[in-house]
Amino acid sequence: MRTPTDLHADIGEVLLEEGQIQARIRELGAQISTDYAGRRLTLVSVLKGSLPFMADLMRAISLPLRIDLMEVSSYGGATTESSGLVRILKDLSSSIEGEEVLICEDIIDTGLTLNYLIRYLGGKKPASLRICTLLDKPARRLVEIPVDYTGFTIPDQFVVGYGLDYDELYRNLRFVGVLRPEVYTTPE
Ligand code: IMP
Repeated sequence: MRTPTDLHADIGEVLLEEGQIQARIRELGAQISTDYAGRRLTLVSVLKGSLPFMADLMRAISLPLRIDLMEVSSYGGATTESSGLVRILKDLSSSIEGEEVLICEDIIDTGLTLNYLIRYLGGKKPASLRICTLLDKPARRLVEIPVDYTGFTIPDQFVVGYGLDYDELYRNLRFVGVLRPEVYTTPE
């Protein structure tokens, strides 16, 4: 695995600044708090990329809520292409039967991961199942996904930061940026 010496040097362009992300999450949290008023919510985050988003979104929601975590893998390591194969690496820890479930995703690209998750979680009989994604990249969609809450719609570029990785790195950047193509096209 290539280890960059300077994470920021590998970023070609900052797409979303930290302040923009936080402001949008406050808006999403307020909207969700209004929409689910009087109900108890369960946020299901899809690790690892959605971790910062879920952590910030849950604190922007003023309702009683539970959280649960799933981990799935769709991309095989150092690649920017979806394999289309979804594997569950970690399942829910509690039943969601009868619960109002909101899936928190980092990014929807082809839609294959969420398409699988919607069917998987829907089979567990929640009272409702909705989707909140921080980023939506509609240009590459292969399956239609009913998205209820979207943070930002972005162009067809491979982005990292704020949870999103390339080869497991860059997740700790506070902003979302476009990775320089040389980073994933240059042989080691
Ligand atoms: P999909 O199944 O193609 O919609 O891909 C969903 C998953 O692919 C996301 O949860 C991410 O983990 C990953 N992914 C898609 N696009 C990007 C990107 O631009 N940067 C980093 N990860 C991405």
